[in-house]
Amino acid sequence: MIDFNGKAVIVTGGGSGLGRAAALSVAKAGGDLVLVDMNKDSLEESKKEIQDAVSDAKVEVFEANVTDEEQVKKYVQFTMDKFGKIDGFFNNAGIEGKQNLTEEYGSDEFSKVVAVNLNGVFFGMKHVLKIMKEQGNGSIVNTASVGGIRGVGNQSGYAASKHGVAGLTKNSGIEYGQYGISINAIAPGAIMTAMVEGSLRQMAGEDWEAAGKEFVSVNPMKRFGKPEEVGNLVAFLLSDAAKFINATVVPIDGGQSNKY
Ligand SMILES: NC(=O)c1ccc[n+]([C@@H]2O[C@H](COP(=O)([O-])OP(=O)(O)OC[C@H]3O[C@@H](n4cnc5c(N)ncnc54)[C@H](O)[C@@H]3O)[C@@H](O)[C@H]2O)c1
Repeated sequence: MIDFNGKAVIVTGGGSGLGRAAALSVAKAGGDLVLVDMNKDSLEESKKEIQDAVSDAKVEVFEANVTDEEQVKKYVQFTMDKFGKIDGFFNNAGIEGKQNLTEEYGSDEFSKVVAVNLNGVFFGMKHVLKIMKEQGNGSIVNTASVGGIRGVGNQSGYAASKHGVAGLTKNSGIEYGQYGISINAIAPGAIMTAMVEGSLRQMAGEDWEAAGKEFVSVNPMKRFGKPEEVGNLVAFLLSDAAKFINATVVPIDGGQSNKY
């Protein structure tokens, strides 16, 4: 059902966590990839991991900071030069930022988190959509968060930016459906990646693993999500199998965001 043969997919934040897992899911279904990240070493690690799993996978890497619109233009052009089209776009690079009460959050920190999580997603959509509109097809998945549909606490920049991603997704989805383009967002709960480890370390220092167990004890499934579970959802939403799903935000959180 999910077939990416002959399709080209860009993944930002492709050097780690959810980006790497989604890229692997796409490669397993036959897709060609451009992985974008600001961390060159982790990009090479992702490429190796994917090609170890799928020996004939075509994987290109591009080092870029998604907060810089010129660099965004460059990764889009790089993809066009390599593959001549963009079928799928996982617009995913993001940071959590420091945790603090709103009054102590810090204006610079707020701007930094919004610059990556929201501006970076907007720049990516702006430049990829121009091409997809000309093609008359394409699928985009933006990474929001449960923090983009619910308040979390101590995360002003993160919650504001991720609610912004959800809004941007709905707005652009209704604009571009008529051009054969679907635009959705995912709202992951706690998925065990470097970001979540960092978040738990902020809360509990060296006791972060115990804090993690307590954190997931209130999840209906009593566990963290796995990156590959998110990767599979992203591959589905980017595939033709999901073509009539548009302008929506899909939670992947074990049910936590619906719990009273
Ligand atoms: N892991 C979770 O539980 C969870 C939950 C909800 C949402 N998310 C979101 O999922 C996305 C991926 O998170 P993850 O858990 O895989 O984290 P991660 O830290 O493992 O991966 C994020 C990647 O993005 C890259 N990146 C960060 N800033 C960048 C920039 N300015 N330009 C280019 N690349 C940049 C990092 O180098 C890293 O490789 C983020 O948007 C995050 O907010 C994660």
